[in-house]
Amino acid sequence: MKIIGIETSCDETAVAIIDDQKNILSNLVNSQIDLHQQYGGVVPEIAARSHVEILDRLIVESLAQANIDFDDLDAIAVTAGPGLIGGVIVGLMMAKTIASVYKKPLIAVNHLEAHALTARLTNNVNFPYLLLLISGGHCQILLAKGIGSYEKLGQTIDDAIGEAFDKTAQMLGLPYPGGVAIEKLALGGDQNKFNFPKPLIDSDFDKKHLCDFSLSGLKTAVRRLIEKLTNAEFCHRTSHQKLSLQQKSDICASFQKTISQIIINRLENSLVILNRRNINISQLIIAGGVAANRYIFNKITANFNNLSVISPPIKLCTDNGAMIAWAGIERFKLNMVDSLDFKPRPRWEL
Ligand code: KG4
Ligand code: ZN
Repeated sequence: MKIIGIETSCDETAVAIIDDQKNILSNLVNSQIDLHQQYGGVVPEIAARSHVEILDRLIVESLAQANIDFDDLDAIAVTAGPGLIGGVIVGLMMAKTIASVYKKPLIAVNHLEAHALTARLTNNVNFPYLLLLISGGHCQILLAKGIGSYEKLGQTIDDAIGEAFDKTAQMLGLPYPGGVAIEKLALGGDQNKFNFPKPLIDSDFDKKHLCDFSLSGLKTAVRRLIEKLTNAEFCHRTSHQKLSLQQKSDICASFQKTISQIIINRLENSLVILNRRNINISQLIIAGGVAANRYIFNKITANFNNLSVISPPIKLCTDNGAMIAWAGIERFKLNMVDSLDFKPRPRWEL
């Protein structure tokens, strides 16, 4: 069984072909980072246009690399949401066209489910497992019970963790994507230099939010600290120029430490809640772009030494076509195919 996966929901145009023996026959990702860098975040219109320009070439290249033709495919899997609507439309229409011309089944994949299932492609992971999904667009803790069966235990009520990294990096004058730059600079910083708030945890205000995240207060705290250190009102253009490299490094290290403490606290609460329901978890999967952060990964691993903590290889943790193709394989095996009138779903809860 061979399935092509198409991903265009954010700022990566990605195509991959996978077989049911977990062989990745091709996995091409065209990142648009350079197009969005000057804006400090993804610009939806620019993203959609770029997907249009590159997607057909990427599909042809992908088939050539896998040394197969459209006719050899068993199904077409595509991200149908959630994501930026322009991009999702580009991918979904392309997938529908191929499916209709070559008379292949269409599999409309939920992007979040694809992230959730990636560890079953790369590692031998069995249901149920706990999933921490942390990227620029997503921030949630999920209980994965089976294909198409997930329970959201917690999510962000404002910014995603990757977004908090990106916004903090922007305030420090660091390049997008911010997470990479912050992790690097943090290496030379003192993580105990500054005390940042842990919203929802410090206040312990609401038992409804035991597994949720709130990060906008943390972002504001960084901004205030910069104002204090520079002794001036914050300005995106000039403030960071007044900070020394050491000050920036200390902010990065302290910020990263706070984020990891927040994550660990939320995961602990999730496990307690599941334990009370007699659901015993032995595997914790970390997926999404922030999973690339070694500091955070190591802190989590050290804290949960009774769990097997798994993170797919970075290339499969950030948005890619292989995860879409794999979700396609998992669903196709269960005859979960979709009709050609499947509508794009910019918002699509798991
Ligand atoms: O999964 P992804 O490629 O795209 C989506 O957002 O869906 O994740 C990108 C996000 C960005 O916010 C980026 O800053 C963050 O992942 N990221 C990191 C690291 N590498 C990427 N955050 C922290 N540490 C990293 N090393
Ligand atoms: Zn994603």
